[in-house]
Amino acid sequence: MKIATFSVLLLLLFIFPVALAQLKFKFYSESCPNAETIVENLVRQQFARDPSITAALTRMHFHDCFVQGCDASLLIDPTTSQLSEKNAGPNFSVRGFELIDEIKTALEAQCPSTVSCSDIVTLATRDAVFLGGGPSYVVPTGRRDGFVSNPEDANEILPPPFISVEGMLSFFGNKGMNVFDSVALLGAHTVGIASCGNFVDRVTNFQGTGLPDPSMDPTLAGRLRNTCAVPGGFAALDQSMPVTPVSFDNLFFGQIRERKGILLIDQLIASDPATSGVVLQYASNNELFKRQFAIAMVKMGAVDVLTGSAGEIRTNCRAFN
Ligand code: HEM
Repeated sequence: MKIATFSVLLLLLFIFPVALAQLKFKFYSESCPNAETIVENLVRQQFARDPSITAALTRMHFHDCFVQGCDASLLIDPTTSQLSEKNAGPNFSVRGFELIDEIKTALEAQCPSTVSCSDIVTLATRDAVFLGGGPSYVVPTGRRDGFVSNPEDANEILPPPFISVEGMLSFFGNKGMNVFDSVALLGAHTVGIASCGNFVDRVTNFQGTGLPDPSMDPTLAGRLRNTCAVPGGFAALDQSMPVTPVSFDNLFFGQIRERKGILLIDQLIASDPATSGVVLQYASNNELFKRQFAIAMVKMGAVDVLTGSAGEIRTNCRAFN
């Protein structure tokens, strides 16, 4: 482990002692020594086939961790008698579950009932972020899988794209994130796409005015109106040209400073006095953004985790044992 990485981890343990202390680095070193390599190899193979896996997993990890904690509650499939988090509106477009299944199958073959689905999501996201050009970081493991997965929880908790900056900061702040973490986490929108339903009001009828959002670059608004005239339309969250929705970098922050944010909250952080200074710092320093993103991801990965004898190790990530 590099000295810089180690000191970041010590710092994190100091700031965020409880949850992180329950998790451990190299938790599987004896029980499943190849676990992290197996995850990495399968993520690499998937990334080679489709690099949008970086966006898919990063969002999956976020939606899992903020609802019932990072406990793979999002992975549970609904049954005829029981809905699950997958039935919640914000989760309809979450992708990447097949890769998690593939990794789980490989791990069960080598170390049955040992590696949790929640650790798989955490490790796979970490690897996909790095492959996309993002930071390389170590994450502690030892999470266990939860017993609860309800659509209501996800619908209630996951924020809408028009949340205010104050609302966004308190959403993240409630789970121990400061403004540097919160803005860095939104920087995950450097990858991936949004469907028109999440922003079309900004280009057609902003807040009932019948006009586009004045905070959006008018050329972009015009282009997006065309995009959204077609059913199934979507746009890259990071509009830097040439559009690179699979490369993980700080260009997103430059774009929102140029009024080219797609989601309202992305645009708002560029101008709100509570966040604009941090946006400027990340826009001007890719290394700073990547470092802070790694710190924030380790914190996010520790939100309300189950450890020790709590929860279970699922054998199939889509169903409770
Ligand atoms: C206030 C907080 C946030 C809001 C309101 C928000 C909202 C959204 C929305 C509306 C979309 C588009 C979904 C679609 O149209 O299918 C999206 C996509 C995405 N979000 Fe967020 N998000 C937030 C925070 C985060 C965080 C913390 C992360 C990860 C650390 C994240 C990662 C992503 C990624 C990677 C995508 C693209 C997914 C893909 O291409 O499949 N978001 N987000």
